[in-house]
Amino acid sequence: MSEVAVGALAARGDDLATLTHAEAAFVRTLVRAHAAIVLDESKSYLIERRLAPVARDTGAGSVSELVASLRSSPRPQLRDLVVDALTTNETSWFRDRHPFDALQHHVLPPLIDARRANRTLTVWCGAASTGQEPFSLAILIREHFPELSSWNVRIVATDISRTALEQARSGLYGQIEINRGMHASYISRYFQRDGTKFRLDNKIRSMVEFRELNLVGPWTGVPRSDLVLLRNVMIYFDPATKTQILHKIATDVLRPDGVLILGGAETTLNLTDEYTRVQKGTCGWYQRKAAG
Ligand SMILES: C[S@@+](CC[C@H](N)C(=O)[O-])C[C@H]1O[C@@H](n2cnc3c(N)ncnc32)[C@H](O)[C@@H]1O
Repeated sequence: MSEVAVGALAARGDDLATLTHAEAAFVRTLVRAHAAIVLDESKSYLIERRLAPVARDTGAGSVSELVASLRSSPRPQLRDLVVDALTTNETSWFRDRHPFDALQHHVLPPLIDARRANRTLTVWCGAASTGQEPFSLAILIREHFPELSSWNVRIVATDISRTALEQARSGLYGQIEINRGMHASYISRYFQRDGTKFRLDNKIRSMVEFRELNLVGPWTGVPRSDLVLLRNVMIYFDPATKTQILHKIATDVLRPDGVLILGGAETTLNLTDEYTRVQKGTCGWYQRKAAG
């Protein structure tokens, strides 16, 4: 008997062969092995929908053909396209607001005091997606900490998704993206119209350097940082991967008095005891426990 078809795409009339359980399982295993992203079985429809453009662009007749081609000869280039298509790049400007309030009022002021002697501040944003998060931070710094304009401020923003990084580097955003959290007064201050889109001003773009980096690969070029933003990415990983990443940040990235900010649904609890949580009102962040 043939493998049982999954998803309801045929019923929806999509011009695609429906993925079999085995094909969907192959894709889930590949994405997990390469990027640690856990897609549960209920996400088969998502696999098919997201891979349809990849199938088209690579000349495969269908997603099933694309999967067959990967199964028969696992080419890294094709695999990367598949992984990229299956990342969720959901983001917005000043996302969740509270972390940015905390940065402005509680996190950055003491860090800046502590770094005044060498006037250097280094930030790593480890899942930057299309750039809204590191650019929001850059705008916040420019708006509220004018002193830093003469400092060496480095914001290194990384992500596994090449497509997301391409947009981040372009600084181009559509109306809907702008509507998601960008303050009206900042639109006139920091964006220029570019056709139907908005282009972020170079004075903000130049504050952020974007790089491709897989959080479960080598962390080449991740700087020792005063501040690490790793928000809304560990939700996709299993507990062992989260523990590994949090440990690596504590030992290799975060300075002893540095600050780690996670997403609202993320925590170090039950994963590692290398951090202390600091809570101020509605926002919490993490610091390394003092040695000894
Ligand atoms: C939901 S977005 C979060 C973006 C931003 N941090 C925010 O909170 O708005 C998750 C991002 O994590 C990235 N990602 C997923 N797995 C990754 C991995 N293994 N290494 C690096 N980035 C990854 C995705 O490409 C995506 O852009």
